[in-house]
Amino acid sequence: MTALTSAVTAPGVLGRSRALVRPALKEAVGRMHPWVGEMAAYSFGWCEVGGGPAVASGGKGVRQALAVLGAEAAGAPGRAGVPAAVAVELVHTFSLLHDDIMDGDAARRRRPTVWKAYGTGPAVLAGDGLFALAVETLAGTSAGPAALRLLSASLGDLVRGQADDLLFATRPWAGARRVRPGEYLAMAEHKTGALLGCSAALGAVLGGAPPAVVTGLDRAGRHLGVAFQIVDDVLGIWGDPEVTGKPVHGDLREGKKTYPVLAALDAPSPATAHLVTVLESAGDPAVAAALIDEAGGRTAALAEARRHVAAAEAALAGLPIPAGAADDLRSLLDFLVCRDL
Ligand code: IPE
Ligand code: MG
Ligand code: MG
Repeated sequence: MTALTSAVTAPGVLGRSRALVRPALKEAVGRMHPWVGEMAAYSFGWCEVGGGPAVASGGKGVRQALAVLGAEAAGAPGRAGVPAAVAVELVHTFSLLHDDIMDGDAARRRRPTVWKAYGTGPAVLAGDGLFALAVETLAGTSAGPAALRLLSASLGDLVRGQADDLLFATRPWAGARRVRPGEYLAMAEHKTGALLGCSAALGAVLGGAPPAVVTGLDRAGRHLGVAFQIVDDVLGIWGDPEVTGKPVHGDLREGKKTYPVLAALDAPSPATAHLVTVLESAGDPAVAAALIDEAGGRTAALAEARRHVAAAEAALAGLPIPAGAADDLRSLLDFLVCRDL
């Protein structure tokens, strides 16, 4: 991989997959109840509240790209992975709608969240509608039962990760009940990694890949999710708000149990006791950030992220997949994890 500090331009596979998947995704959303479909389209960044033309851009479409690459990894054309791509983008959007309610977040991608714009009840309903549409999309494929088994397993993991994430917020900063870095890693794999792994694995299943390829892609996606989440945490503390689009020290101000903080609290450092005092009293986030750095939290986080990138690369390296798909998978990995620090 390239250095964690380098900015990497978006790989071509993102645009290529978007162009391939967009018509099928639009067709699926078009079958929803019009009001529910508007909320879905709003979350995809296709329109504004009321249905007017979009002024914002949507997400990166990483999951649909992984699904397309999963099919190509199986030696099939990328279009074989389109139903998988549609399903995982629907599920991802559904999970974000509900996540914003759980987290009480008012903004996403610089716009009001769906529950803020349309109300909590409607946002819950839109999430349910997206989930139902994802199930319908996969059930209609030749790999129906196998695909649905993969999707439901990853959703079970996602719920597990979200549950742990919510429970971490209720735990203390210090003492025996504090959250350990290892617990965070399991949470991140479940919350973020499971759906990323599932995206590539589902595409591979639809492309007719052997079980070893399906499992290997799933493992790579899970490691990618953990690495991505840790880098996101690091950027949340030390990143440039102009680049991240997030307020400076937002996670620290909200008292989030992010990896750099947990690693700092676990370190045998003289800065740790002072850090606990600052965190427990919701003190100056800039002071907390400096203490986390002093206790080695940033270094430990980046080292852990690199370990997961290496594990993802190792999971891919052993697989009998076409060179083009392997190159695109690696470029996606670099792009997602090696963001500007
Ligand atoms: C969202 O996790 C993960 C899922 C939707 C499963 P977070 O709550 O940590 O992420 P953001 O910051 O809202 O995107
Ligand atoms: Mg959230
Ligand atoms: Mg959350």
